[in-house]
Amino acid sequence: MIDSSQSHTPSPQPIRQFFRGVVPATDGLLWYFGGLVLFFFGVMLLSGVLLLFHYQPSPAPASASDGTPLLLARITDTTTWLGVEYLPGQLVPVRADSSGGNADFPTPLRGVAELLRDSATGRPVHPSAAWVSLEHQVLRQVEFGALVRSVHAWGAQLLVASLLIWFGGLAWQGAWRKPNSGVWISGLLLLALVLGSAWTGSVLPWDRLGYAAAWVGSSLPEQGIPLVGDWVAQAMRGGKEVGGGTLSRMAAAHTALLPIALILVLILHVSWWRRGVVSGKPVGDFSKPFNAAAVLVAGCVLLLLVYPFVAASFNPASPFFLLPLLLLPVCSAQLLNRLAGGAAVSGDSSGGLYRQLVCWLLVSGALLTLAIAAPWGRGEGGFPVDLTQAQLAATQLRPEWYLLGLYQLLEWCSASVAMAFIVAAVLFLALLPVADRPASAGAGHGAIRWMVYGLFFLLLFLTLRGYMGTGG
Ligand code: HEM
Repeated sequence: MIDSSQSHTPSPQPIRQFFRGVVPATDGLLWYFGGLVLFFFGVMLLSGVLLLFHYQPSPAPASASDGTPLLLARITDTTTWLGVEYLPGQLVPVRADSSGGNADFPTPLRGVAELLRDSATGRPVHPSAAWVSLEHQVLRQVEFGALVRSVHAWGAQLLVASLLIWFGGLAWQGAWRKPNSGVWISGLLLLALVLGSAWTGSVLPWDRLGYAAAWVGSSLPEQGIPLVGDWVAQAMRGGKEVGGGTLSRMAAAHTALLPIALILVLILHVSWWRRGVVSGKPVGDFSKPFNAAAVLVAGCVLLLLVYPFVAASFNPASPFFLLPLLLLPVCSAQLLNRLAGGAAVSGDSSGGLYRQLVCWLLVSGALLTLAIAAPWGRGEGGFPVDLTQAQLAATQLRPEWYLLGLYQLLEWCSASVAMAFIVAAVLFLALLPVADRPASAGAGHGAIRWMVYGLFFLLLFLTLRGYMGTGG
């Protein structure tokens, strides 16, 4: 007979038990950055899907709902149109007149906007459907559209920063050795996939910056990978040249292939990391975190206060502003958790989720403040690409801060040497679990460790040099 009192006993708080298992706590600052990678990926997924409701990944010239082609005009005087205020210098799509060569300005824009013409051909500029859907529809017509876009773009910056800190910490702790080699390899993959997402995403607005990014990024394999490089470049572009096919490939990669790959690799990364915790050798655990957090909080506050005054021009995307903005809530979460819960035991599985939640809450405050106070914009690089024109204006590509190391390398050596170096560095990092086995511990073991540190310091040096070279 079945004992009904036993068979119906509910397991105690199953949801809490589940999360306790999923988010075991370690006792280090670095652990929060691992959690932040998950958090920011969630933010990117949510904001990305919201953007997809309106984004049209089409390089074809945009047209109004009745099929009239749209041309590009520049606002010359402040005005209000369809309930939106336009400032001088802003770009706006307007209908073409019946001849197709001039604009049919709506009354509120007459006298306060001028039609833009290509400097080489003198023909009016046809913005693409992709550009209009983002720059006009999402930014000006969709409620909270500008905020969602700003959150997506700033979220990408903070995701890359969190992942670089997390991966740098893994390297510092020699995480390529057993039992953490899986964490290391999946971390390396995560880095590649996130940088690939940031690159493909930057192409989507189909403006000068996106067009230039598509050229530079797809030229690297062509110039640097022997035998198959040309084929890889053409597969990325959808042809020999960057054109209409490139945008659809980038959109497919950015919104489907890369997110799916990222989800799979994240699952592997977290489960391998948990295995390390269970076996008593977790990575992401630094000693004396309370003192470190207190010192870092003071340092971040100081940097955030001083930076706007000492920088030649205030740029919120500068790493000197972004990094303290990210570190401040993380260190504050560590201090709060410590004060609230006392000393945590390394490997203790209780309260991990709650401690991460405190951090996520504080970090979302920083992200929202950034997204509202510094709405994301691409400046001159945000001018649309018109594939119907004979010439495309050359753009001075100013890479994001996390690509400045690569940019500086390309400045100093030819693309093939730079690519050979990158391929060698990635192979070296990927093969570390095999090359640095416990059997090789000793002199060789130390040398490998110093080679890894050397690589990271070289990247830091190249990034700083690139930062100074591009005017900060
Ligand atoms: C690791 C994850 C991701 C990263 C690092 C990332 C990064 C970026 C970046 C840097 C941009 C360009 C922003 C700009 O300058 O305007 C962008 C745009 C975009 N992303 Fe993502 N993204 C990610 C995930 C996603 C996902 C999962 C989706 C949708 C399913 C998505 C949809 C979009 C769309 C529609 C755009 C064009 C809108 C825009 O440019 O603001 N993204 N992304």
